[in-house]
Amino acid sequence: MKPGRMLLPLLLLAVAVGCTGGTDLTGKWVVEKALPLPAGPDGETPEGPPGGGPLMEAVFDLRQDGAALTGVLGTHMFDQPISDGTVEGDELAFVMKMEIGTQRMEIPFNGKVVDDKIELTVQVPGGMPPMTVLLKRATDEEILARAGTAPERIEPPEIQPLADDGLARTPPMGWNSWNCFHLDISDAMIREIADAMVESGMRDAGYVYLNIDDGWQGERDPDGVLHPNERFPDMKALGDYVHGLGLKLGIYSSPGHRTCGNQVGSFGHEEQDARMFAEWGIDYIKYDWCGAFRIYENHEMQAVYQKMGTILRETGRPIVYSLCQYGMEEVWKWGPDAGGHLWRTTGDIGDHWKSISEIGFNQHALAEFAGPGRWNDPDMLEVGNGGLTPTEDRTHMSLWSLLAAPLLAGNDLRSMSPETLEVLTNPEVIAINQDPLGRQARRVAQDGELEVWAKPLADGRVAAGLFNRGEEPASVTARWADLELAGKVGVRDAWAKKDLGAFADEFTAEVEPHGVVLVVLKGQ
Ligand code: GLA
Repeated sequence: MKPGRMLLPLLLLAVAVGCTGGTDLTGKWVVEKALPLPAGPDGETPEGPPGGGPLMEAVFDLRQDGAALTGVLGTHMFDQPISDGTVEGDELAFVMKMEIGTQRMEIPFNGKVVDDKIELTVQVPGGMPPMTVLLKRATDEEILARAGTAPERIEPPEIQPLADDGLARTPPMGWNSWNCFHLDISDAMIREIADAMVESGMRDAGYVYLNIDDGWQGERDPDGVLHPNERFPDMKALGDYVHGLGLKLGIYSSPGHRTCGNQVGSFGHEEQDARMFAEWGIDYIKYDWCGAFRIYENHEMQAVYQKMGTILRETGRPIVYSLCQYGMEEVWKWGPDAGGHLWRTTGDIGDHWKSISEIGFNQHALAEFAGPGRWNDPDMLEVGNGGLTPTEDRTHMSLWSLLAAPLLAGNDLRSMSPETLEVLTNPEVIAINQDPLGRQARRVAQDGELEVWAKPLADGRVAAGLFNRGEEPASVTARWADLELAGKVGVRDAWAKKDLGAFADEFTAEVEPHGVVLVVLKGQ
């Protein structure tokens, strides 16, 4: 055969398989195993659970057409089409674009074909370490076992609004394990954090809830009892330890069969779990929708959350109930009726300025829904996690304080710097957050990237943040007319803990880029 004749079929073949060394990726793939997390900047491989948690039940239904890759990713949460898929040589890449509540996410996947398996790495937003899994072609049983993990629906209760139970009169303050540790948590670490909360002065500054997020769960036994995993040998003992230090203990679960991190959720075992939590001495629960996407329609959320709200009250233990469903279905309108004391208003926060500013400055319209016992939750603090500058840390803390947001620190308290501690524990800033009137700040003036937010306080004073979201230093002015103040007004700088004097009509401050001047104003 002439060389030219040979070339055409070869070319066609190459186009057909997209040059994946002969592999056509079309078909269904499941996770064979999670691969160890990549080494960190220090060259050390992180300890704790290997990556892959949220992907372990996933089915990747891929279709390759030359260099183009399309398909659907089915997880414990939902079926999601993939976008922007490409195959080049033995490398593949695609993106999962999702909208959950107010959050738009683009999650990139990158893979490599090795011996008819795929090593796939995903970077989940929110600062989790990248996860790498090994995919293999799935048998029919494996597909059924995974796709079939969504349990049979249980009818949610009729809507019956719950009354205010008197808890959480001011925004809850504490610490949560997720932002810094993700699924890599243990009893030993939680005890160390508890000690650090006391020794650092965080507890005395008001941070009393020590909240364990996703990653504590093991499996259910034949009686339906959910056991913690081996990293949490004795939850009751942990509760006793935490209470002995004058702290309170929080836990995490889901109304779904699986949590976001693909751990066991409370679906179908709500009473059993709630009773067990109460026996352990749990004082706070974060209840995260996630797996419930597979079971219920979004409009059923109120009923589903009310179910756990009712059960928690029936335990007889005062348990703060935190709804985590990323601000869907206007939760601020029905959260209290479902028994909730706080509810997330957004998707997951990230440890960078874009996330902090987009979430924080977007809360204006929700102010009217906050008050004692019912708080909008723009997600936990990233202060001290390294992704924000010291100025941005102060802006984050100032804005969350003005918003009457729950103050749940998310940094490693065992090793925080004195500067981080100072940002988290300034008593005048915390007093703004914890003010008994419980009002959430509103934006009262805006001039491009300069914004003034104001929060009325119980004693008639007004806390105001003069924010500069821009990239250059700027003068920001708070006008008394915008703040329902008049004449001479005393101005106190909350961060500097200093009276600045009395000013007529307005107050102007020089504010650094991404910075704030946080003041408390007192009419004469
Ligand atoms: C969701 C929540 C996070 C965290 C994780 C745990 O993403 O929004 O705050 O609880 O689940 O898997």
